[in-house]
Amino acid sequence: MEEVYTDFLIIGGGVAGLRGAIELAPYGDVIVITKDMPTEGSTEYAQGGIAVALSDEDEVGIHFHDTIKAGDGLCNEDAVRVLVEEGPARIIELIEWGAEFDKEGSKLAFTLEAAHSRRRVLHAHGDSTGKELERVLINKIKTFPSVKRFPFCTAIDLIVSENRCIGAFILRNSQVFAIYAKVTLLATGGAGQLFSRTTNPSVATGDGMAMAFRAKAFLQDMEFIQFHPTVLYAPSAPQFLLSEAMRGEGAILKNIFHERFMDKYHPDAELAPRDIVSRAIISEMVKTGGSHVYLDLTHLDPDFLKNRFPRIYSTCLQYDINITKDLIPVSPAAHYIMGGVKTDLDGKTNIESLFAAGEVACTGVHGANRLASNSLLEGLVYGYRAGKAALEFSKDFKNLSFPMKLTKNNIKYSSLSLQKIEEIRTSLRRLMWERVGIIRCIDSLNIAKNTLLEWQDLENNNFNLRRGVELKNMFTLAKIITEAALKREESIGAHYRSDYPMKTSSVTKHSLINKKNSDVEVSWIQEKQK
Ligand code: FAD
Ligand code: SIN
Repeated sequence: MEEVYTDFLIIGGGVAGLRGAIELAPYGDVIVITKDMPTEGSTEYAQGGIAVALSDEDEVGIHFHDTIKAGDGLCNEDAVRVLVEEGPARIIELIEWGAEFDKEGSKLAFTLEAAHSRRRVLHAHGDSTGKELERVLINKIKTFPSVKRFPFCTAIDLIVSENRCIGAFILRNSQVFAIYAKVTLLATGGAGQLFSRTTNPSVATGDGMAMAFRAKAFLQDMEFIQFHPTVLYAPSAPQFLLSEAMRGEGAILKNIFHERFMDKYHPDAELAPRDIVSRAIISEMVKTGGSHVYLDLTHLDPDFLKNRFPRIYSTCLQYDINITKDLIPVSPAAHYIMGGVKTDLDGKTNIESLFAAGEVACTGVHGANRLASNSLLEGLVYGYRAGKAALEFSKDFKNLSFPMKLTKNNIKYSSLSLQKIEEIRTSLRRLMWERVGIIRCIDSLNIAKNTLLEWQDLENNNFNLRRGVELKNMFTLAKIITEAALKREESIGAHYRSDYPMKTSSVTKHSLINKKNSDVEVSWIQEKQK
């Protein structure tokens, strides 16, 4: 088996991985691997913007308070404090590196999104904020000759010996090779692809969480999936996000009878928290027998809309929807996972030499529901911190030697055909959407649990095909999310149980998930009370 050696291995090239890599690059060799093209990931598609307390009317304390409120009592307050306090410095640095955020005159322009009490969301090129971040971070990375980027490489498993991570096995063109590293940073993003309706790109199959789980890292809060309320619902159109910033600028939701409804569900109407808007949409769809509702911007100035949302305007037009004149059919879709690999505030996991940052990680910063536009900021702040901490940790290693390196030889690969893999993938995604989606209950979750048993064998298989590797990971995560959702017999944040519609715990508690033999074990840890 081919072996590659480096000081630092970064798995993932989104905002978190790249920001971590920038901290490490001056001090050693860095390899950044991405499963697809270097830019393919959620970061590239982020629209609405990046929340930061930098406007004249804002304060970090208010950003802190809004984040805690959105998290429904389950945020780790220390993690939120780090996010909001260090956020401004990370943004200013990004601007120094060339980020062009939209301006009003000479001042930065801030927009509003749900559950923010101030206009605090910076955006770029109207609705292409993530693309701008990715551009700037990649340009910065290119200034370091020590960084090598390996696109189209799928990490299949972490290499762990005696609770120390020494790299990862990588799949490229059906061949497996090993990358050995002093320190590994997991930055593989989210898992939206587990659901048949999702805003997430096809790389978002939760690989990092599943690999970490197999390696006996702890996961946390995996039952909390955020569903975005407004995703394009049109035959032959992709599940394209219609940014919350559109509602921030005045867009209205209407049912199929063209009646406004959000004011009946929440005093903040269209700008209520995402979980409330998503459930209200489902409720209107059931009441009216519709498969969607509408987003209406036709009362807003057409030129303003074309300038403010150019990517959304042109994408919708490709599907014969003119957002300045037509009602846009929308329905909710899986968007973000609040849970992930449990880390401390420096990205450290319970496995030595393994760090995690970005959507794959769980510091507890988002609690039970993420405040809009906090995750790009999380990627910058926690990617930076994980990079710094990984560097400190690596200083203990004088030489790059791996006495206990483990190579994969004579592996037997699954004979499952690509067609079968695709069939199971589709069924699994539908099952998760229908049974472990926006509204859950014991019956739906048990159906999911029992149906998943049919595919249990996937976990015993090795795959030398990316879609197979992804399916195995999706299966593992589906099991974990279902178990965690079953265990939490209450409704809190984005986790809604129709059989337990209230918040029932007198103390806030996080689910802690670990691998026990081949089973998923879910226990509780209490959030520190302040
Ligand atoms: P990503 O950017 O998703 O990057 C993951 C990387 O990991 C990719 O490079 C991928 O190739 C790689 N990878 C995955 N698995 C493997 C593997 N097995 N082997 C090798 N590489 C692997 N958040 C905001 O704050 N503001 C917004 O406006 C906003 N809008 C959004 C719009 C959309 C459509 C979506 C989908 C999300 C949006 N979010 C937004 C959420 C935010 O974009 C993500 O949470 C964030 O970008 C995640 O960054 P990341 O670095 O953790 O992961
Ligand atoms: C959006 O633009 O609506 C997405 C913002 C986010 O997910 O933070």
